[in-house]
Amino acid sequence: MCGIVGYVGPRQAAPILLEGLARLEYRGYDSAGVAVQNGGGVETRKLAGRVEGLADLLSREPVLGTCGIAHTRWATHGPPNDVNAHPHIDCGGEIALVHNGIVENADVLRTRLERDGHRFTTETDTEVLAHLIEDAEGVTLEERLIAALVPVEGTYGLAVTWKAEPGKIVVARRGSPVLLGVGDGEHFVASDASAVMGHTRSVVYLKDGDIAVLTADGYRVLDRDAVEQERAVDDIEWDLEALALGPYPHFMLKEICEQTETVRNTLRGRLLPAEGFARLNGLNLSPGQCMRIQRILIVACGTSWHAGLVGRHALEELSGIPVDVEYASEYRYRRQLRIPGTLAIAISQSGETADTLEALRAARGTGANVVGVVNVVGSTIAREADGGIYLHAGPEIGVASTKAFTSQVVALLLLGLYLARQRGQMAVDEGRRLVAEFERLPDLVARALQLEPQVKEVAAAYAGVGNALYLGRGVNYPVALEGALKLKEISYIHAEGYPAAEMKHGPIALIDENMPVVCIAPQDHVYPKVVSNMQEVRARGGRIIAITSEGNGDLSHLVEHQLRVPACDPLFSPVLTVIPLQLLAYHIAVARGCDVDRPRNLAKSVTVE
Ligand code: F6R
Repeated sequence: MCGIVGYVGPRQAAPILLEGLARLEYRGYDSAGVAVQNGGGVETRKLAGRVEGLADLLSREPVLGTCGIAHTRWATHGPPNDVNAHPHIDCGGEIALVHNGIVENADVLRTRLERDGHRFTTETDTEVLAHLIEDAEGVTLEERLIAALVPVEGTYGLAVTWKAEPGKIVVARRGSPVLLGVGDGEHFVASDASAVMGHTRSVVYLKDGDIAVLTADGYRVLDRDAVEQERAVDDIEWDLEALALGPYPHFMLKEICEQTETVRNTLRGRLLPAEGFARLNGLNLSPGQCMRIQRILIVACGTSWHAGLVGRHALEELSGIPVDVEYASEYRYRRQLRIPGTLAIAISQSGETADTLEALRAARGTGANVVGVVNVVGSTIAREADGGIYLHAGPEIGVASTKAFTSQVVALLLLGLYLARQRGQMAVDEGRRLVAEFERLPDLVARALQLEPQVKEVAAAYAGVGNALYLGRGVNYPVALEGALKLKEISYIHAEGYPAAEMKHGPIALIDENMPVVCIAPQDHVYPKVVSNMQEVRARGGRIIAITSEGNGDLSHLVEHQLRVPACDPLFSPVLTVIPLQLLAYHIAVARGCDVDRPRNLAKSVTVE
């Protein structure tokens, strides 16, 4: 949510900042801006709209200088216009600042600052920070920043530069991710490693409470008492190619089509065929800890929450441990019960979602062991958890999550196998059967992806609809939720996911010949029940698109379209049934002319609550 990039070194800053912003644009895209030290002062250029627009502005009105900061915004306070775009400056125009997060007491601080004579030019919460630094005591920028942040409530990842200290950027972090890029005679700051990857693979992930001071020659990390801190330098594990579109028109389609490989990568090195077991060393759970688990609590948001619902089926079925799945945003504000033997699992693609992070902290407060199922290596959730399972799905740029979902489901299935075998609840033969099922999964994904031409035809027929219903049962009920979410977020068609049998308790009233109903009915023990639910839809004139599997009978007497995924163990089926739904949402959105990778009002990685 919002992207930050900064550069200090021997090269011109503006082109490097623009390149970084272009890579971060998936995090927010309503306005963009840069501030560069130009020798005598700090010059800003900013405007509403995309980074392309900023590049045009800079070609007409260049800013020269080798130290600068930049931002791409997802508006929280104040509409997305030229004025509210970051960077923000103080009264004297000497301090420029970019910020991710929310200053929760901005109104109080603003009133006080205005009373003291400060003039505000924007409606943002961020501007108070520039004025607070202007007023703060201190000789150096870092001293002033530390003092300025004392009264600030809320979250921030921020970068500041000051006319009085040429060639210096100061950074602070609380609740919003910031990392430093370490180059040779040059240094970078960014909210996401993708912004600096073109220049360095060495990064320092800042911790909450850190202040960092960057110059061309080096960097220092300080705590709030200005005491120097040691922070490890990590390597970024993926390469620039992973950030390129390649032959695809959109990142979303690229990421859908990558799933054969991403599922393979989540499984890589984790299957033990002879033992019928999984290797999950990163969990950091001793055999004794595994034995003591009485209950699993999953916290997540959005698509990751849907993966958690699939995971509940897998974990309960395989390991026999009861599982609760909670929206992170709801769990964190309820009374959290202290249930002995709880293993809490935070699922997050980005590893930065504010609600999931806070829910993880709340669960830890109840004495639970906490693990993460996370894609982004080095992210806050990954680092705060006691252990976890990395997805290794590579960067997900498309704002609508796709490949992360299938990898999350695979990771939870692996965890189910691991706990079941570790606790002696599964025989070795059953373990071996499951390992064999995992081994063939990437090829089954490849076969499910071959449905694309058929899905595209279906999409063309339904692109004009205003509503859609998605029905599924058991482990495929969460897939119905996920299919509906994908459709609404990128095509703006209203869609609902429902447990198929619940339909007759209300939503059936909506069904008529204008209502497409997507029914997820692979081969499993509830298949005949879902077919009965389809009969109910059909009897009311609904138009059915069935996601079924090879080996299931012909449904043409009931449905208008049948999309057949390969047959597999029912617990694994969500990994396959979700693929035609991802493709359906994608092709409907394209047919409607929607901006698939930058859906309106959304941003990747929701780091505000
Ligand atoms: C939907 C989507 C969101 C995210 C949610 C959680 O396509 O992408 O619903 O799943 O914001 O994000 P992470 O997984 O990064 O915690």
